[in-house]
Amino acid sequence: MNYIGIDLGTSAVKLLLMQKDGRILKIVNREYPICFPKPGWSEQNPEDWYRESIAGIKELLEGSDKSQVAGISFGGQMHGLVALDGKDQVIRPAILWNDGRTAEESEYLNREIGKETLSKYTANISFAGFTAPKVLWMKKHEPELFEKITKIMLPKDYLAYRLSGVHCTDVSDASGTLFFDVKNRCWSEEMCEICGIKKEWLPKVFESYHAVGTVKPDLAAELGISEKTVVAAGAGDNAAAAVGTGTVGDGACNISLGTSGTVFIAAEKFGVDQNNALHSFDHADGSYHLMGCMLSAASCNKWWMDEIIGTKEYAKEQEPIEKLGENHVYFLPYLMGERSPHNNPNARGTFIGLSMDTTRADMTQAVLEGVAFALRDSLEVAKALGIQITRTKICGGGAKSPLWRKILANVLNITVDVLENEEGPALGGAMLAAVACKEYESVEKAAEAIVKIKGSVEPQTGLAECYEKRYQQFKEIYPICKPLFETLK
Ligand code: XUL
Repeated sequence: MNYIGIDLGTSAVKLLLMQKDGRILKIVNREYPICFPKPGWSEQNPEDWYRESIAGIKELLEGSDKSQVAGISFGGQMHGLVALDGKDQVIRPAILWNDGRTAEESEYLNREIGKETLSKYTANISFAGFTAPKVLWMKKHEPELFEKITKIMLPKDYLAYRLSGVHCTDVSDASGTLFFDVKNRCWSEEMCEICGIKKEWLPKVFESYHAVGTVKPDLAAELGISEKTVVAAGAGDNAAAAVGTGTVGDGACNISLGTSGTVFIAAEKFGVDQNNALHSFDHADGSYHLMGCMLSAASCNKWWMDEIIGTKEYAKEQEPIEKLGENHVYFLPYLMGERSPHNNPNARGTFIGLSMDTTRADMTQAVLEGVAFALRDSLEVAKALGIQITRTKICGGGAKSPLWRKILANVLNITVDVLENEEGPALGGAMLAAVACKEYESVEKAAEAIVKIKGSVEPQTGLAECYEKRYQQFKEIYPICKPLFETLK
């Protein structure tokens, strides 16, 4: 049988058709717009997600035996608020994970309700991108729309609902709402009360590898697939990527270099970072994980290439970069504010250290290095918690660059394992569907059978030392800029 994995990303939906043995038959990408109505705001239209996903499934299945499709599941951009009215119509554009408009609401939760209380109920504190502060924002700024809410969903759950008719979510994605009791894998009554929402607004929670239902008959007919095709809950894109890269088992690490950048550390047991700089979320394999998330990672490089120097030839632009570890230019990658570890929606991107001899290549290099340094910030938090990471998997668009992988291995001073398939969330989604259909006994077994490492990048002694000094320098820049960022609002 075959399985469809849908990675509902921020710039595009990626759909992947996988055979039961893990072989990838086809991949399809379809883009949709993202809208930044004000600085720091970020929205998308859920109808665009649905339209492109359905068109994508049709394109994916063209020329293949459609009766072989047994299951569909997802990895989805996390935290986004999709609000539905009593007729299950979308009330307003979705407010996305990298939207910083809720600084006040997030501060209210952390200060007035208190970080300790939030952490007790949800294992996390509030970050501007999380779902609960978005709901508070709607309540304050759009009361007439807030009044209409009868359901709150996350992006991929909206897709699951349109496919199956079931209002559902999974434990990993629910973890990022701040309405969820991560330790006990259920909604938190206390958080519903604190935020003034009804518990009935929240969808039913499933483990990521459980079936929520089947594809609605009319849609199954339109797609030419069986009415028995299972829709499995799926996971937030980072947990789905962890499944797709085989990041299961205590201490396993995955770095995702997508629009966002994440350091994902799987954990058998529930645990909370006392300072809440890392998120403590449920994993898609039934366990837990810690995660640091930077809001702009590969998107910094995309911005630099597309918008500033105006090229699509990313690899060519990286060719003249030779002097690794010696760059005198630094880049703070906070183009959408920053989540981990600074929790500051007002932080901004910054180049520093430019001189008359600075070249275009130096600045490109600074962008790649700035993202690597910012990921190291999250890794340092994990180290301080006593977690030893000696190697990591890597996925996402940025992972395709050999230069960026080398910079990462040396900045982080760990081995970077490169996978045969870097399709992280889409592959993870298909694997979760296969587990839901009992093709594999568990997520771990599916990962063992499917995920293959094709090579590793080792840190080099001299270079890692140079980067150690550069990182210490990098760390000093943000605290100096921070007061200035507050005045740039
Ligand atoms: C994770 C996060 C991002 C999005 C990107 O907390 O906000 O990684 O999931 O799609």
